[in-house]
Amino acid sequence: MRTRLTVMLNLEHPLIMAPMFLVSNVAMVQEGMRCGVAGCIPALNYRTEEELRKACRELKATKAECGKGAYGFNLIVNKSNPKAAKQLEVLCQEGCDFIITSLGSPETTINAAHKVGIKVFCDVTDLKFAQKVEALGADAVIAVNNEAGGHRGSISPKDLIELLRSNCSIPVISAGGVGNKAEMEQMLTWGAEGVSVGSPFIAAVEAPITDDYKQACVQYNAQDIVMTERISGTPCTVINTPYVQKIGTRSPWLERMLNKNRKLKKWVKMLRFYIGMKATEKAAQQATYKTVWVAGPSIQHTKAVEPVRVIIGRLVG
Ligand SMILES: Cc1cc2nc3c(=O)[nH]c(=O)nc-3n(C[C@H](O)[C@H](O)[C@H](O)COP(=O)(O)O)c2cc1C
Repeated sequence: MRTRLTVMLNLEHPLIMAPMFLVSNVAMVQEGMRCGVAGCIPALNYRTEEELRKACRELKATKAECGKGAYGFNLIVNKSNPKAAKQLEVLCQEGCDFIITSLGSPETTINAAHKVGIKVFCDVTDLKFAQKVEALGADAVIAVNNEAGGHRGSISPKDLIELLRSNCSIPVISAGGVGNKAEMEQMLTWGAEGVSVGSPFIAAVEAPITDDYKQACVQYNAQDIVMTERISGTPCTVINTPYVQKIGTRSPWLERMLNKNRKLKKWVKMLRFYIGMKATEKAAQQATYKTVWVAGPSIQHTKAVEPVRVIIGRLVG
């Protein structure tokens, strides 16, 4: 299958294993590259620049060894990520095939990455932002729709792809709601030139998370996904476990009140982000009854914990 994405990254299939906080790792992307697809890891999955640098070098070596696939990193480019500038510097020094930017303006990233031949794809959820990033020189848009896992958009996959396809000239990569080959082909039929798939890879053998989290993706289905404000303050998809039901999905009353205060708002948001991220990290990495597991409705097709290679096989046939 040839699309502008496969040509740009020299892929066998128009598939990106999407960046997932705490879930994506080098082993998953290495296996993806051996299968001829692209894989992306959030830079935030590394606590230090040295760890990020090491991951770059390992992936570079794998690519040289297998001679296919592509690897990239995800940068959160707004103020919530104070490490963004340093992370960008490491990526530009070490090199990678592409960067996916999320939240905030990608301008600095695009300018720096292009100087060293790294492509930049930008997460967008609407036309206005897509046109903005295209004007800034982005190489593609990642169209995050209302079926995506994590911080999802509000427009349906078909409407978003068609809207961006007819108003932008850079390739549209669709993110959200793809768990098997038929769904992937459907996105391409609507005009996407690739898909970025996250949730179906959570229950991968190679994923560095607890077996409880993986088993939850096997046992729960699309209808068990709910939106909660309790992780980052911005609605995020989680599995509706008994614990999530117990604590509820709305921010606590006091937090909502404090959020209305112009002076306090920024600090309340930062605190919520910190507490939410710590809770998610604990749930992903340790046995705990506080089961806040981020996942999207496309876990529907997850019937067992399987190697990355098998999951990719289900998507590309
Ligand atoms: C567990 C999880 C963590 C995620 N973490 C990030 C992240 O750190 N950065 C980001 O840009 N997107 C993140 N996303 C969104 C994915 O990159 C991708 O857009 C989404 O998974 C696509 O929808 P799907 O889950 O239906 O495949 C995350 C999604 C999930 C499910």
